[in-house]
Amino acid sequence: MTELLADLPIEFIGSFPDALHRLDPILPEIVVLGRSNVGKSTLINAVVGRKIARTSSTPGKTQHLNVFRFPTFYLIDLPGYGYAKLSQAERRRLKDLVHNTIQRRPDLAAALWLLDIRHKLSKEDWAMHDLLADSKREAIIALTKADKLARSKWPAAAKARAAELEIGIDDLVVTSGATGTGTEELGELILDVVSPK
Ligand code: GTP
Ligand code: MG
Repeated sequence: MTELLADLPIEFIGSFPDALHRLDPILPEIVVLGRSNVGKSTLINAVVGRKIARTSSTPGKTQHLNVFRFPTFYLIDLPGYGYAKLSQAERRRLKDLVHNTIQRRPDLAAALWLLDIRHKLSKEDWAMHDLLADSKREAIIALTKADKLARSKWPAAAKARAAELEIGIDDLVVTSGATGTGTEELGELILDVVSPK
């Protein structure tokens, strides 16, 4: 029987301002990345079947590494990028936090990178793309908010995002935190990437 992420126990470990905060015990980690408001916290909650991450209609609320412990790995919710209404200093701090997390956490197994299914990649999305590529991080790419498009439009929209990224359509997961579309598949991909090879 396949293990389901939604059936596993979860413990909130804490909210840490330091990108290199050490977690004990050492376990593989998954970080959740994406533009502010793309639906990171909502999708996390849908995938794990519980309300663990704080969601909000005001963007820019997540300011730290919010760490959740599963039996065999950690899930880390990170601040979103590209939120315009922060001060220069705040933006700098968040950017450093995200960059250092991706480049320097030794036990990072993969990034779960979210993109809105409806929109072309933004300048900040491309910067994230380059950061993931430069740091040679494995990425699970999920398209969010699919429920905002008619189901008949999903294939063309997913194809457009895949073409932009120069990847295959099968390398993307179409999701909706609102309806649960794709959340089981995403849970399987996460469990697969953290399982011992
Ligand atoms: P930050 O933490 O600020 O970076 O935002 P976030 O990426 O965690 O986004 P969050 O999950 O807080 O969602 C932002 C807004 O989008 C909220 O109003 C959500 O209700 C809405 N939203 C998120 N996911 C979905 C979705 O799948 N469908 C729809 N229709 N709305 C969504
Ligand atoms: Mg959030």
